[in-house]
Amino acid sequence: MDVNALVAALERLVAEEAELSTILETAVRKLHETNPRFDWTGIYELFPDSVLRLGPFVGAPTDHVFIGVGDGVCGTAVAERRNINVPDVREVQNYLACSAETRSELVVLIQSGETIHGQIDIDSHSVAAFDDETVQAVERVAEVLARAYAARRARDP
Ligand code: SME
Repeated sequence: MDVNALVAALERLVAEEAELSTILETAVRKLHETNPRFDWTGIYELFPDSVLRLGPFVGAPTDHVFIGVGDGVCGTAVAERRNINVPDVREVQNYLACSAETRSELVVLIQSGETIHGQIDIDSHSVAAFDDETVQAVERVAEVLARAYAARRARDP
């Protein structure tokens, strides 16, 4: 499945008011398949206590199920309210290792306006795995997921 098809499939699920968990699981599973350089693809959800909690993922299990805002690449993305593309994780001081094989990491926020719902986190065993086109594709998926979160909030405030 390419990214256009994935975005369309996710938009259908949002329109059908599918469960958020179903939408997130579908996004992770299918996004992982779009790129052979994605070795670990997951979602961290941001909870009101300012902790990221691991949601659905594809790849090796990780010890980092909870990550505080400001910690690691994932927590830094939330603290600084920006997406982070790390070409070589060996050069990042506060990196939290998920796998010794990881070389590059991409974190894209799932955000509606000022509200950060969570993030898509992708690890690759290749250095600099995430070019502009790849980042844009992941951003498109994150935008649909943000709409899914916003729709759930509107239904169940
Ligand atoms: N590397 C991340 C932790 C999550 S694992 O990659 C799945 C970080 O530094 O925040």
